[in-house]
Amino acid sequence: MAKVKVLDHPLIQHKLSILRDENTSTKDFREVTNEIGMLMVYEITRDLPLEDIEIQTPITRSTQKHLAGKKLALVPILRAGLGMVDGILRLIPAARVGHIGMYRDPETLEAVEYFAKLPQDISERQVFVVDPMLATGASAIAALDQLVNKYEVKPENISFVCLVSAPEGVEAIKQAHPEVDIYTAALDEKLNDHGYIVPGLGDAGDRIFGTK
Ligand code: URA
Repeated sequence: MAKVKVLDHPLIQHKLSILRDENTSTKDFREVTNEIGMLMVYEITRDLPLEDIEIQTPITRSTQKHLAGKKLALVPILRAGLGMVDGILRLIPAARVGHIGMYRDPETLEAVEYFAKLPQDISERQVFVVDPMLATGASAIAALDQLVNKYEVKPENISFVCLVSAPEGVEAIKQAHPEVDIYTAALDEKLNDHGYIVPGLGDAGDRIFGTK
């Protein structure tokens, strides 16, 4: 069974309050979203495997540490997921970035993939799926379904990274993809009748891109 981890580092909590404030400008919202993405990934990658390498310092030959294990890929779910990518890449600049876009079919209410461009070797990578808001979990699960079923990524190699989650969304992912770890900066109270997270921070995409 995968883990659900609330990353409640004081800097993350402080910055999340800035995002929640309705008076925060688009510019600040975008910057702080990236900063939190960076801080979250710092925490999430704490257990990445290391291996020894031999290097020559200016003084002597020495055995030191170097990241080992699977290469990393970020997969932001369009469009709000894009808001965290630059911040994450500041810490792991060699990560590849794939994109997945999903929309909900108004007739069937099923999530449909309208865009996907992923690294060719995605199935061999450790994958961070990124979306700031985990609300009902519908688009997250649809993206995870695609990665697992179509692109053959092992669920245990996928982590879902979000800023704010609702208990409903967390439960839905746990049911659909029990092997996927979930990392969130906050686990909020509930969803309202319009599918927004309460207290939440509003529509993350609109606030990142200034479209409202
Ligand atoms: N998507 C958002 O951007 N905000 C919510 O509160 C729920 C889904």
